[in-house]
Amino acid sequence: MPYASLRDFMARLESAGKLVRVKTPVSTALEMTEIQTRLLAEQGPAVLFENVTMADGRPSPIPVLVNLFGTVERVAWGMDREPHQLREIGETLAFLKQPEPPGGWREALEMLPLLKTVLAMKPKTVSRAPCQEIVLTGDDIDLGRLPIQGCWPGEPAPLITWPLIVTKGPGDTREDGYNLGIYRMQVTGRNTTLMRWLKHRGGAQHYRRWVKEKGAALPAAAVIGADPGTILAAVTPVPDTLSEYQFAGLLRGRKVELVDCKTIPLKVPAQAEIVIEGHVMLDEFGDEGPYGDHTGYYNSVESFPVFRVVRSPCDRSRSIFRPSPGDRPMSPRCSAKP
Ligand SMILES: Cc1cc2nc3c(=O)[nH]c(=O)nc-3n(C[C@H](O)[C@H](O)[C@H](O)COP(=O)(O)O)c2cc1C
Repeated sequence: MPYASLRDFMARLESAGKLVRVKTPVSTALEMTEIQTRLLAEQGPAVLFENVTMADGRPSPIPVLVNLFGTVERVAWGMDREPHQLREIGETLAFLKQPEPPGGWREALEMLPLLKTVLAMKPKTVSRAPCQEIVLTGDDIDLGRLPIQGCWPGEPAPLITWPLIVTKGPGDTREDGYNLGIYRMQVTGRNTTLMRWLKHRGGAQHYRRWVKEKGAALPAAAVIGADPGTILAAVTPVPDTLSEYQFAGLLRGRKVELVDCKTIPLKVPAQAEIVIEGHVMLDEFGDEGPYGDHTGYYNSVESFPVFRVVRSPCDRSRSIFRPSPGDRPMSPRCSAKP
């Protein structure tokens, strides 16, 4: 049965011995990320830290889940498949990316069941959602309440590392349809972060068109803790012809349930744990970084637009990338050997 939520997926992982709960207090400042680095290197389990200590020593009422997709097996399971079935997903994606049926009509006819499934996976909108059980507004908004990690020594501020950023463009064209992307967010205040989307990303393109056509800030939502299929769809290069929510339905084998945001004209995954609603500002920018990256280097500092929160329903391998000029090697978090 496909997973309706992250909690469903965690239950499956736990019953298979692939998720471990840690009750010992662990700090968001460098400790969690060091543990994750070691877990990832040894293909360890996902971990739910249940007693989280914030950087200032306060206990956090919110637990933190790490190393969720630390093995190929867990990535496949997140799509309700086994590792040997991942190739099929690649083939499906390649087919959907073709502007014309690749091998003529015969092949296209063979793919008809797939196309029917794609059409059947349009998301559905619900009126009540777990992610809106608790809603914080006005002076209650404080990103400092969230257990946001500090990843490497010398970084300027805590970093939201895996937010699904939801945006829409200003018009009705295909490119203006829903986009989901993961863009890291440097916390800069109680209700502000930076939005570090690289220029070619879907969200950055929406922003440019929105600013040009509407001359206003772009509505955007940061979703934390969505179901695994939706999380994985956000990092998959989905063809422009398909909404990422629809593709998430295809990956999950189950329609995505969406709910209308409270303050902005966007829909977000109803089963998510945390949704932060806001705007990416027109004329406010800040220096982002330097942050340690998967390249093993601190990125150089660059300017990115400011994201202002209006409402936060809340609570509930080695890479082959190379550093860019100006990046410097990262410092060790601690001297203890694994
Ligand atoms: C953990 C994680 C962090 C990421 N951080 C960023 C980021 O800070 N900026 C960025 O532009 N892309 C980042 N990416 C890559 C994009 O999320 C990814 O390429 C995505 O498919 C982009 O979607 P889009 O083309 O629809 O914008 C990150 C990916 C992951 C898995």
